[in-house]
Amino acid sequence: MSKEPLSIPRKVSVPSLLARTARGGKFSVVTASDYPSARAAEEAGVDVLLVGDSLGMVELGYANTLPVTMEEMLHHARAVARGARRPLLVGDMPFLSYQVRPEDAVANAGRFVKDGGMDAVKLEGGRDMVPAVRAILAAGIPVVGHVGLTPQSIHRLGGYRVQGRDSAGARRILDDAVALEEAGCFAVVLEAIPARLAAVVTARLGIPTIGIGAGSACDAQVLVSHDLLGLLPDEPARFVKRYDSLYERMVDAFRAYRDDVESGEFPAAGHAYEMPDAEWEAFSGGLDPGGPEPVPVQEAAPALPRLTAGCRR
Ligand code: KIV
Repeated sequence: MSKEPLSIPRKVSVPSLLARTARGGKFSVVTASDYPSARAAEEAGVDVLLVGDSLGMVELGYANTLPVTMEEMLHHARAVARGARRPLLVGDMPFLSYQVRPEDAVANAGRFVKDGGMDAVKLEGGRDMVPAVRAILAAGIPVVGHVGLTPQSIHRLGGYRVQGRDSAGARRILDDAVALEEAGCFAVVLEAIPARLAAVVTARLGIPTIGIGAGSACDAQVLVSHDLLGLLPDEPARFVKRYDSLYERMVDAFRAYRDDVESGEFPAAGHAYEMPDAEWEAFSGGLDPGGPEPVPVQEAAPALPRLTAGCRR
C-alpha cells in the first residue's frame, strides 16, 4: 500500500537562505509581533519573520524604539514563535541590550533563543558592534547586522533621515557592512540608503543584504507588517508599499458592530445558545411566581457553524 508523503514544511535555516542567495534567489522578510500576524505570514510563505523593536512604536505606541525592553521583546517573540514554525525567526535586540558589554549581548541574545523561541538575533550598528557580534556568534547564535538608518541612534542621526548620501557617509556604510560580514553576520539590513549604494554593498558582500528603503538590488526586502498592511492611519515612509488599508477596514468593522449592538441586530438567534425544553420547563416552573417573567425564547437557535477561538474560552 503506497502512502502519500506527509507534507511537513521545511524550516527555513541560515544555510538555506545563504544557498538561495548564492543561486541569485531573493527572499522576503516581514516584521511580526503577535500570533495572528505570525500565522498569516507563515501561511503566505514569507521566509523570515523579524520580531522588530519597531513594535515599540506600532504595537505599544512609544514615540520611538528607545524605551523598548527585553521583557517586552520576549513577550512578543514568544507569541510569534507559537504562531509560525517554518520561517526563520529573528529577534531584534532592543536599545542597551547589547551596546554596553559583549557579555550582556550574549546573555540577552540567549534569552531570545531560550525564552523567546527565536532562531537568530539582529542588532544595529557597524564596526563598533563587532565585539558584540563575535561574542553572540561564539555562543552559537546567528546574527543579522543593521546599517544605514539605525533607529536606536535617532538622536545622533538627527531624526529618521536617509543615510549615506555623501561620499564619506557612503564609505562608512560600506566599511561597516564589510566589517559585519567579516565578524560573522549571516545577513545585513540596509535601511534608508541610496539605491546605488545598496547595490554596491550587495555586490561587495557574500552574505545577503536585506533592504528597507534601499532599492531593488538587495538580496531580500523587509517591511514592517503594520506599514504594508496599513494597520495604522499614519502616512507611511516613501519606501513603503501598502498592500491593504486594514486600519480603515477595522474602523468600519468596529462601527458596524457598534451599530448592530445599539440597534439590537446583534446578537441574532444564531449567535445564542439554547437549552432542552424539559430543562427549561423544570427551571422556569420553579421560578418565584412573583418574580420577573422569564424572557420568552424568540426562535430555536440553529447549531453554531463552528466554534471560534472566542467561543472556546
Ligand atoms: O525594528 C524593525 O522593524 C526593524 C526593521 C525595520 C528592519 O529593524
